[in-house]
Amino acid sequence: MLSSPLFLALLLPSLSWGTPVRRGMQVLESRQSAPGGYTLTGSADPDSVLTFRLALVQSDYDGLIDALYNVSTPSSAQYGQYLSAEEVEAYMTPSNEATSAVNTWLNENGVQATVLSAAGDWLSVRMPVSQANDLLDADFSVFTHPKTGKQAIRTLTYSIPTDLAGHLSLVHPTVSFPNPYGYMPIMNFSSSGFTPEADTGPCNVDAITPACLQWLYGIPTAPAKSGGNHLAVTGYIEEWPQRTDLVTFLTDYRPDINAATTWTLVTVDNGSDPQGQYDAGIEANLDIQYTIGLATDVPVTFISAGDSYYPTDDEFADLLLYTALYMLVPPSPPQVMTTSYGDDEYLISEALAISLCATYAGLGARGVSVLFASGDGGVSGLQDNECTTFIPTFPSGCPFLTSVGGTENIPETAVSFSSGGFSNYFGRPAYQNAAVSEYLAYLGDNNAGLYNPNGRAFPDVAAYAVAFEIVADNYTTGVAGTSCASPTFTSVISLLNDELLQAGRPVLGFLNPWLYSVAVPALNDITVGNNYACSDFTTGFNATVGWDPVTGLGTPNYPKLKAILGL
Ligand SMILES: *[C@@H]1O[C@H](CO)[C@@H](O)[C@H](O)[C@H]1NC(C)=O
Ligand SMILES: *[C@@H]1O[C@H](CO)[C@@H](O)[C@H](O)[C@H]1NC(C)=O
Ligand SMILES: *[C@@H]1O[C@H](CO)[C@@H](O)[C@H](O)[C@H]1NC(C)=O
Ligand SMILES: *[C@@H]1O[C@H](CO)[C@@H](O)[C@H](O)[C@H]1NC(C)=O
Ligand SMILES: *[C@@H]1O[C@H](CO)[C@@H](O)[C@H](O)[C@H]1NC(C)=O
Repeated sequence: MLSSPLFLALLLPSLSWGTPVRRGMQVLESRQSAPGGYTLTGSADPDSVLTFRLALVQSDYDGLIDALYNVSTPSSAQYGQYLSAEEVEAYMTPSNEATSAVNTWLNENGVQATVLSAAGDWLSVRMPVSQANDLLDADFSVFTHPKTGKQAIRTLTYSIPTDLAGHLSLVHPTVSFPNPYGYMPIMNFSSSGFTPEADTGPCNVDAITPACLQWLYGIPTAPAKSGGNHLAVTGYIEEWPQRTDLVTFLTDYRPDINAATTWTLVTVDNGSDPQGQYDAGIEANLDIQYTIGLATDVPVTFISAGDSYYPTDDEFADLLLYTALYMLVPPSPPQVMTTSYGDDEYLISEALAISLCATYAGLGARGVSVLFASGDGGVSGLQDNECTTFIPTFPSGCPFLTSVGGTENIPETAVSFSSGGFSNYFGRPAYQNAAVSEYLAYLGDNNAGLYNPNGRAFPDVAAYAVAFEIVADNYTTGVAGTSCASPTFTSVISLLNDELLQAGRPVLGFLNPWLYSVAVPALNDITVGNNYACSDFTTGFNATVGWDPVTGLGTPNYPKLKAILGL
């Protein structure tokens, strides 16, 4: 078991509680009202201690993005020349002025900060509600979600000293709210449908297996051979894959490989992976079984983050942050990372979304392909919900990662739960300009006013997403969701990376500039189906020829991808 290399050095411990110096303040973030149906139900206990994350302004965000595109764009001279941890850190490290201004302010108020990131751009501080209210001109209160009973201590506005403007990007948790319905795009078994005359190979309509996906996408069964190729699977609170279930799964579905093949555990933010009788996580088992089961012999790392005994005040943002900070540090991080968790974008503040997204730019610059499931609510967000305008998911709206939507049926059609749409925070990146403009022309006035036509559009690609057979607690069961699609697409990329490494070439890194320019003809364009909207199962967006906000550019065709890479 590897331990987390997170930095936990104390910054300037202060020996006495200084007299707070009152300064001019300015609002950093605010909301008109609590989002997502939360209502104010009381004041917060003044003595209740909160853990805050502070994001300092990075010294050269624009430089980082420039470097990311240089190493990820096939036509660029620097394509594939990925940056070291230190080079990425240099862009992310705040200026000395910013670091010292923020620390001076904290120390004047008797607050000790812990540095969370190697670059020093993320700090952690703990303080009681009373002090947070005072320091941030805030009004921390208890907000309750009536349908689920979920509670959170949040404020609708907070301020920082005027002289910290331009140095401090955000304090969290403040105006970002937890998703009352959870973070996993996974559902119980839903049956697929095959077109009667279609050739369905080894696929069974009620039980999609590795053999079916290998046949459908031409994924090789031969073991990966290169040294140094790795795949990372993230697992968040209370989702633990089970070793005995993996043995059963491999025995049943990959009898051609060693059933003892397993993962390496990495824990961050007090993560663990207990192996007791009732510890099986459906999501974690799915993600592990379909990466180890498809990316044959690629070493898989399971990054387990979070622990319900020490819950943080916002699990999701924290787990994304800890995982990304872990991945930024090693000299050779896993080259692909799949995450089947997400959130509704509007629950997270724009500043927090931008700061978390920047960590994926850093990973891309390092040559890591970051893949996320797009969500299971069609255009209604992560899960199907009532809504009056379309709800993009996070982090799929971040332009520096690859969002994976879902399909069903053979031949494949879009599955209606596949989340897709347009970010309200991130503008459309250049790499998808042509593809998205073409779709907007097809769409015309349909859905006008329900989505942001200038936003970063997602998903980027798709893969099969219903009736996946998994083993959990020694039972075989079927699951559906874009949670199935992300590990599948990730495994394809990992096997392509393996062939690139064997040929002495760089791995694919941040995929999108390559996907939208070079790889398009090597993907199966999905042109039938649509995603549902806002609980009434009316249609959101149609799938059509070319990119669409249901299945992106399409599903993988391994032999064609290999050919397009000249392998
Ligand atoms: C990106 O590439 C351009 C053109 O080669 C170069 O001028 C620029 O300095 C590069 N930027 C970074 C951050 O590497
Ligand atoms: C499937 O349904 C069962 C019973 O309702 C529930 O306990 C389980 O959590 C569900 N699984 C998923 C992945 O939704
Ligand atoms: C991790 O667990 C320890 C106790 O083992 C606890 O003191 C600490 O606060 C926890 N850390 C986090 C980040 O929750
Ligand atoms: C979407 O498809 C449906 C059914 O095929 C069609 O009636 C509708 O006009 C399409 N929408 C757009 C925007 O083309
Ligand atoms: C799992 O089930 C199989 C039969 O399906 C049984 O032979 C095996 O002992 C069970 N394993 C555990 C750990 O319960």
